[in-house]
Amino acid sequence: EKGGYDYFMLKEIAEQPKAVADTLLGRIDAAGSLTLDEVRISASELREVDKVVIVACGTAFHAGLIAKYAIEHWTRIPCEVELASEFRYRDPILDQQTLVIAISQSGETMDTLMALRHAREQGSKVLAICNTNGSTIPRESDAVLYTHAGPEVAVASTKAFLTQLVACYLVALYLGQVRGTKWGDEIHVVIRDLSHIGSDVERVLETMEPVRALARSLAHKNTVLFLGRHVGYPVALEGALKLKELAYMHAEGFAAGELKHGPIALIEDDLPVVVVVPSPRGRSVLHDKIVSNMQEIRARGARTIVIAEEGDEAVVPYADHLIRIPATPTLLQPMVATVPLQVFACELATARGNEVDQPRNLAKSVTVE
Ligand code: M6R
Repeated sequence: EKGGYDYFMLKEIAEQPKAVADTLLGRIDAAGSLTLDEVRISASELREVDKVVIVACGTAFHAGLIAKYAIEHWTRIPCEVELASEFRYRDPILDQQTLVIAISQSGETMDTLMALRHAREQGSKVLAICNTNGSTIPRESDAVLYTHAGPEVAVASTKAFLTQLVACYLVALYLGQVRGTKWGDEIHVVIRDLSHIGSDVERVLETMEPVRALARSLAHKNTVLFLGRHVGYPVALEGALKLKELAYMHAEGFAAGELKHGPIALIEDDLPVVVVVPSPRGRSVLHDKIVSNMQEIRARGARTIVIAEEGDEAVVPYADHLIRIPATPTLLQPMVATVPLQVFACELATARGNEVDQPRNLAKSVTVE
């Protein structure tokens, strides 16, 4: 049942190109437009939406943090992302024009369920993004867009995360399409780029041996830090979460711009710091700023593990270890940049003798608040 892999997690990491393709399947028509008729919220209701609120936990929350960039960019609708466990306790401002998106792999996470119930009580429409057919969260929502990752068995979420991103982007683009925002023309280009992402992930998977070797060499470390910017920031958070839950190591993700506001004090000799580098094309200002951050932390002894786009030569002098990912548009980079972090955490867990598929103290779905 593990298909020749030692762990479900490895199998599920390997299944990501297919999971991404399956989640796109049947949702784009021959003309390159989105056909999300399955989302039972009418176009006129979607045109009324004046705020999007995403609620989720753990890895699904990280997908939501990334989705915010895409939703605001393509639709110009303000988008908030909140931990489901915090949401209803602060009396959030919600009304009929608020679209609440609840993201959950299992569809059974109690915190997310309670958040969506609260949202519906306030009259908001709730759209679930879910991987489990007929589970509670989609049943209690107004509409659902299923991710087609297939069953995810390992406690650590991998393929579900990538498909959550795809689904969120489809929703963002669909909102743009029905509302005819000024980004309408861009939609076709993004859809084309999205359909290439599966093969980009495939290429990343083919080059993971050095990442595994690096992970094994760090098995004795206590702490690993992760830095990112823009959509790379939630990727850093996700890399750190994976390491906590699988390797039981102290791991923290930071927005690179925050370094000088505190975290740089943590840097000491030979501390591994994973840096997710934005594309040098696109938002090149951010790229240059993160290159300076790499200089700063290296000068203080950090051992940099740099995830950067192919052809980005500016990072080479500051990278103790360099992990290459294919060049993608900025908003799609998380789908390729997360994959080495999954492999890294899985290999570190193995090297430390931990149970990969069933980490201590954790359950696949958290059905209590
Ligand atoms: O089933 P859900 O997507 O609602 O689960 C949410 C989190 O519990 C889940 O993503 C958790 O953080 C994973 N173990 C992360 O790998």
